[in-house]
Amino acid sequence: YFAIHLLAAQRRRLDAALAPFLLAPDTLREVRDKMRAELEYGLKREAQGKATVKMLPTYVCGTPDGTEKGKFLALDLGGTNFRVLLVKIKSGRKRSVQMYNKIFAIPLEIMQGTGEELFDHIVQCIAEFLEYMGIKGACLPLGFTFSFPCRQGTLVGWTKGFKATDCEGEDVVDMLREAIRRRNEFDLDIVAVVNDTVGTMMTCGYEDPNCEIGLIAGTGSNVCYMEDMKNIEIVEGNEGKMCINTEWGAFGDNGCIDHIRTKYDREVDEGSLNPGKQRYEKMTSGMYLGEIVRQILIDLTKQGLLFRGHISESLRKRGIFETKFLSQIESDRLALLQVRRILQQLGLDSTCEDSIIVKEVCGVVSRRAARLCGAGLAAIVEKKRENRGVEHLQITVGVDGTLYKLHPHFSTVLRETVKELAPQCDVTFLLSEDGSGKGAALITAVAKRLHNIDKYLYAMRLSDETLLDVMARFRREMKNGLSRDFNPTAAVKMLPTFVRSIPDGSEKGDFIALDLGGSYFRILRVKVSHEKKQTVQMESEIYNTPEDIMHGSGTRLFDHVAECLGDFMEKQQIKDKKLPVGFTFSFPCRQTKLDEGILITWTKRFKASGVEGADVVKLLNKAIKKRGDYDADIMAVVNDTVGTMMTCGFDDQRCEVGLIIGTGTNACYMEEMRHIDLVEGDEGRMCINTEWGAFGDDGSLEDIRTEFDREIDRGSLNPGKQLFEKMVILGLHKILTRLGVEPSHEDCIAVQHVCTIVSFRSANLVASTLGAILNQLRDNKGVGRLRTTVGVDGSLYKMHPQYARRLHKTTRRLVPDSEVRFLLSESGSGKGAAMVTAVAYRLAEQHRLIDETLAEFKLTHEQLLQVKKRMRAEMEAGLKKKTHDTAKVKMLPTFVRSTPDGTGSATGFPVWGLVRLSRSGATSCAKEISLLPCAGCWLPGPSKVTA
Ligand code: BG6
Ligand code: BG6
Ligand code: GLC
Ligand code: GLC
Repeated sequence: YFAIHLLAAQRRRLDAALAPFLLAPDTLREVRDKMRAELEYGLKREAQGKATVKMLPTYVCGTPDGTEKGKFLALDLGGTNFRVLLVKIKSGRKRSVQMYNKIFAIPLEIMQGTGEELFDHIVQCIAEFLEYMGIKGACLPLGFTFSFPCRQGTLVGWTKGFKATDCEGEDVVDMLREAIRRRNEFDLDIVAVVNDTVGTMMTCGYEDPNCEIGLIAGTGSNVCYMEDMKNIEIVEGNEGKMCINTEWGAFGDNGCIDHIRTKYDREVDEGSLNPGKQRYEKMTSGMYLGEIVRQILIDLTKQGLLFRGHISESLRKRGIFETKFLSQIESDRLALLQVRRILQQLGLDSTCEDSIIVKEVCGVVSRRAARLCGAGLAAIVEKKRENRGVEHLQITVGVDGTLYKLHPHFSTVLRETVKELAPQCDVTFLLSEDGSGKGAALITAVAKRLHNIDKYLYAMRLSDETLLDVMARFRREMKNGLSRDFNPTAAVKMLPTFVRSIPDGSEKGDFIALDLGGSYFRILRVKVSHEKKQTVQMESEIYNTPEDIMHGSGTRLFDHVAECLGDFMEKQQIKDKKLPVGFTFSFPCRQTKLDEGILITWTKRFKASGVEGADVVKLLNKAIKKRGDYDADIMAVVNDTVGTMMTCGFDDQRCEVGLIIGTGTNACYMEEMRHIDLVEGDEGRMCINTEWGAFGDDGSLEDIRTEFDREIDRGSLNPGKQLFEKMVILGLHKILTRLGVEPSHEDCIAVQHVCTIVSFRSANLVASTLGAILNQLRDNKGVGRLRTTVGVDGSLYKMHPQYARRLHKTTRRLVPDSEVRFLLSESGSGKGAAMVTAVAYRLAEQHRLIDETLAEFKLTHEQLLQVKKRMRAEMEAGLKKKTHDTAKVKMLPTFVRSTPDGTGSATGFPVWGLVRLSRSGATSCAKEISLLPCAGCWLPGPSKVTA
């Protein structure tokens, strides 16, 4: 009776001590929801450095696809064992992975010594392994499973049992590399650093492609999963997925689960290497469960419920309860006697009752761990389900860790909890049999390939310093191109366009626009009307231009253009009208007026003979005349950059730059007339077509051109020309073929990677040349901060998923003191060409009216002879005494009898000086002098009209 009574009292106190470990379903749901909120927060940009659940991007973008191959070394550090492995992967139909590994001990004093000691020890182990495997000389690629939180390769902070000094905030690869260098015995190619969760997910993903989550329930606790790129704010790009290492062990470090932590948890935390940190991990992972049990046992002993109230020396020892003992004690197959024996091994002298209580305590603690871990995992699978937008999700979780593998109940309780808290998810748990080293090797295989590409394409990465230098060089090129002296030899031609302003809203009429030189040849009809508001109506047709026409004779090309125009007019039923035509011709043309364009040279994919050096307006007019079935009035030739600027200027008055990044690349901008030597006049502004595609044609970009650029150039229609353009327009196909990657190949990751590097360079280069233009505009305006709009068009800018973002970002970085709006030209350059034509048309009309009105002021030769004759008679009358008094022309004597004869030195010199001065100044004066009549009403006829 006494004994039973005692047991009942024991029971109550025992229950009281263990009650906080029994989590109600509602509490678990709350934990799940809190975890979910922390996951979401960690993905946000603003959470950087603040989130407790860090959600670290791993830059692993896919699970294995069977194409991985090669021979690799792997290190596996941070779990129970430190392992060095050799992994041989075969791809293809007989794909297989062979592994050899060796476990090495890491003594406590090294785990908690200096960083140098730790990494020297690791390298020592590698050396032994290489020796043992007989591969000492081989410089193999190495993948490093490093089971601690790393942000882009840098150790954020130690967790679990490690605390080596001078490592936090350092680059893990650097530390390992240094240690290899210190040893100076062998070299290794360190390719990837991988968290154990990621390694585990990849190991399991090799067997099951549905495995998109990696879970570790071992010494530590953590999870990784494949997240949609669009949800990861701190990584650029929206396509595909990336693996996120959640580092959920730190969940609760902000206090959000403190209400479920017990006093025992707090004691464990305070006695740990990292107090206050990894609170969730300390409730759920193998390294700490034994400690929690020990704290409870001490408490129960103090209460006299255990070990006859005597706290033995060994019970005071931190860490005596390893996970493996926990697992053994809880094993159902074990008789009480055996439990006692284990306790005895631990130096705990127990009675039978003690054994029952110890077993119960262990059970409660491990059950809570499994339930909490299940609640966390439920949050992850639910998130995956919502990401996919499905009612029911089938997913595989790759798992590893001694707690999961060895504990008799942990895995079952974990699985039950996930089922309970995420009922819409059907979760398969796949145990990682081979550890995370295999996964690390798989990642290394992919990374190695990218690594090689990186080495190959290294020269394509341009630093900001280089970009600023390119910007300065381009600014000089612009200056040269604008100056009369340097223009003839300048690579960047800076062509005046005779377009003097962007649309002002007064344009109207019915126009035709041709748009030749981009990806498509388009003909448009543009109707601009003015009822209430200015509105534009457009209809267009795309015409095919076969390669043999682009590369045939010029006559054939323009016959083709004229034929398409005829067809278009036919369709529009305007063949009988003579509508004004604007011609977007996207090639470098020298212009002396708006309706003349001498093609300097073909660029891009065109190479028709007999056109270079000729006026394309004349050629088109000739082709139209030859047909004779319709008539057209070509009023303006404009470059596509100009057309784009005008199109965008129609919507935004601030637009003063036109940019094309498409089949070719180029920019135009509004320059001050006083800077343009090639055109007379200093007032106002004129649009300059820079033709920046030719930047570098004089060798000025040789230092940043790569072997790929040279190869692309050699294979082009115009070798040695348009060198900048060829760097900007991605010659991807060539590069991929050179790398042995056929674009059709399934090798998507490599392709994506190459594309990223090449397009990044392109956007950066354009940002630097555009930066030069923006600086020029700012200096022209004499303002501290430039506010302007750039009108942009071109398939690369429009279609590439990240191009525009990159361009905007780098531009902002290179020209910080500006506020640049990039306005996409939605309707092509045709609309702008029509605007130019409208202005030209209006001015032509104006001039016709002026001419009419002022017709009387124009004197004929006969009239002038008459005037001369009459004046002569008048003068004679004035000189004659007889008629002097009545003469109209008075002819008054002045009594000055001679002009200077050079002998009067005091007054003579300044007079000569004056004459000399005006002579030497003649050239510069000429511009102003000739300006005068031009600015007035003596304007040339309509054919010389400028807009
Ligand atoms: C091993 C993996 O199998 O499991 C390690 O290879 C991982 O990378 C470990 O860290 C986790 O379990 P534990 O119990 O050893 O910490
Ligand atoms: C179009 C313009 O939208 O873009 C053309 O109308 C221009 O004038 C073209 O040449 C540039 O882009 P791409 O990619 O067609 O060369
Ligand atoms: C710790 C580490 C984490 C690791 C986990 C499992 O939580 O911080 O990186 O994945 O342990 O080993
Ligand atoms: C080429 C042409 C240029 C055009 C550009 C974009 O560089 O030379 O005139 O603007 O391509 O189409």
